[in-house]
Amino acid sequence: MSLTRLSVTAVRNLHPVTLSPSPRINLLYGANGSGKTSLLEAIHLLGLARSFRSTRLHPVIQHEQPHCVLFGEVALAGGLRAQLGVQRDRAGEFVIRQDGKNLRSAAALAECLPLQLINPDSFRLLEGAPKVRRQFLDWGVFHVEQHFLPTWQRLQTALRQRNSWLRHARMDAALQAAWDRELIAASEQIDALRQAYLLQLKPVFQSVLGELIELDGLTLSYSRGWDKERSLADVLASSLSRDQQLGYTQAGPQRADLRLRIGGHNAADVLSRGQQKLVVCALRIAQGHLLQTVKRGRCVYLVDDLPSELDEQHRKALCRLLEALDCQVFITSVDADFVKDFWREDTPLAMFHVEHGRITQTLAHQE
Ligand SMILES: Nc1ncnc2c1ncn2[C@@H]1O[C@H](COP(=O)(O)OP(=O)(O)O)[C@@H](O)[C@H]1O
Ligand SMILES: [Mg+2]
Repeated sequence: MSLTRLSVTAVRNLHPVTLSPSPRINLLYGANGSGKTSLLEAIHLLGLARSFRSTRLHPVIQHEQPHCVLFGEVALAGGLRAQLGVQRDRAGEFVIRQDGKNLRSAAALAECLPLQLINPDSFRLLEGAPKVRRQFLDWGVFHVEQHFLPTWQRLQTALRQRNSWLRHARMDAALQAAWDRELIAASEQIDALRQAYLLQLKPVFQSVLGELIELDGLTLSYSRGWDKERSLADVLASSLSRDQQLGYTQAGPQRADLRLRIGGHNAADVLSRGQQKLVVCALRIAQGHLLQTVKRGRCVYLVDDLPSELDEQHRKALCRLLEALDCQVFITSVDADFVKDFWREDTPLAMFHVEHGRITQTLAHQE
């Protein structure tokens, strides 16, 4: 998938603009505060109906404007096209449209426009809470396994039901036992899907990592969220009184995590910021490769401030890997020269200068 057209209206400081990006490499350059990250944020909004900079969308809407509007045309696999639109106003109202029809959820947007973000905050995938790693893992499972979303929704419903029962005990124990069976079945399925996905991801990750940086002995492992020697039914039964005290279910796939370790240490504790960024790049690029091999889908990479934390050699190595992915990539950098010369001559490259919120294309890609 790639964006063939993008229109942005009233996002942060950006003037209304319509772009025809290159299907491969797009470089956005300009001074600090010119609007580069805002353009990536606009693409993120189109693909996920949310920002990566702020959990609230309010700050993304341009001052004095009632709403922001994104529109994109996406080239899908097999020569198909999709028209996506997202509008969000200050009261929090959303309109999400695909091919002229209103949608209730953003899942269809994500399916048409699978996005991968690499930015100066990327180290949070290693350092942050388990939730960030579960989101990373579930992004992959969602995109390669069509049963994931309905199963995950079943799991959320059953879990909400159980947590409410733990707090209020307003339901008959027999009825709750039926809900527990539903919870256990959905949990086991989610766990199996996650495990199957990781089994495929691991070797791809190791090989991508090897091309970026030498980090001998870095391992990626998965913990499913409950004791691996015991069934979830058993664990839920034995922790019932503690769950009732706490008012929520402690064990289950909602507590799963990924562990990245090196030489007996947590990778986040010993690696430098630059090394952490490269590990995260390898994880995200590996997901892109897997999406291509399993579903022949392509993700769009948003790489904000590519040069930060990386020396010249690693910038080049990262660009080579992004180029080899054969995906659409949007890269921002303060200085165009940093990343301009890293590409092969036959790679379609477009360049855009961002200045005080205005975007001007300075190099058109060759078809
Ligand atoms: N809601 C908003 N309306 C108008 N301008 C905004 C809004 N939010 C942020 N800005 C301004 O947008 C500019 C663009 O920031 P950003 O995209 O982060 O720049 P860059 O990534 O190029 O350094 C900043 O100067 C900021 O002050
Ligand atoms: Mg920026």
